[in-house]
Amino acid sequence: TTRFTIAIDGPAAAGKGTISKAVAAHFGFAHLDTGLLYRAVGARVLAGDKPLEAAQSLVAADLEAEGLRTAEVAQAASKVAVIAEVRQALVDFQRSFARRAGGAVLDGRDIGTVICPDAEAKLFVTASAEVRARRRFLELSENGSDSDYDTVLADVKARDERDMNRSEAPLKPADDAVVIDTSDLSIEAAIAAAIAAIKDRQ
Ligand code: C5P
Repeated sequence: TTRFTIAIDGPAAAGKGTISKAVAAHFGFAHLDTGLLYRAVGARVLAGDKPLEAAQSLVAADLEAEGLRTAEVAQAASKVAVIAEVRQALVDFQRSFARRAGGAVLDGRDIGTVICPDAEAKLFVTASAEVRARRRFLELSENGSDSDYDTVLADVKARDERDMNRSEAPLKPADDAVVIDTSDLSIEAAIAAAIAAIKDRQ
């Protein structure tokens, strides 16, 4: 059986999610959006739980909960994500997912650097803050939210700031990651670039 791990990291709204799903479908691998783990913990904290207890008692079904995709939960997620013990509590689940039979794609912030430093393929998907904010703004508008662009841009920058400057597992490309800047790429071109980079490592 194949054990092949693809690590896809990058900042918020760079296209990681879309690329990860397409890559997983292309290779027939399972996909884990690790941001959901932190979002699920963040949502429990907003509901009054303690971060570490929420992280230690997380179960797979929590990742299917409604309301994890909101801006409020995203900010709460990036706040619990700076806590070393919270991150530690989520390591085993991610590593076992990564080594499952049949291949796995994990996307997040620290997959290539901390969770799966031995991943067979590593990508770092990025784009300018303005492009990412515009994409997220359009997505939110389509979903009927009345948020404005400047607020979305400020949120994206606040989350970048927290994710890149924390001492524990900061957001940065692994030394051996292939960097894909999607600022001027269509979705199709970004997916094609990702698949080509992974095939190179096979
Ligand atoms: O990817 P997503 O936007 O859903 O992630 C929400 C937050 O969770 C991020 O801003 C980041 O702070 C945190 N996160 C992390 N490590 C990961 C995935 C997400 O710290 N592997």
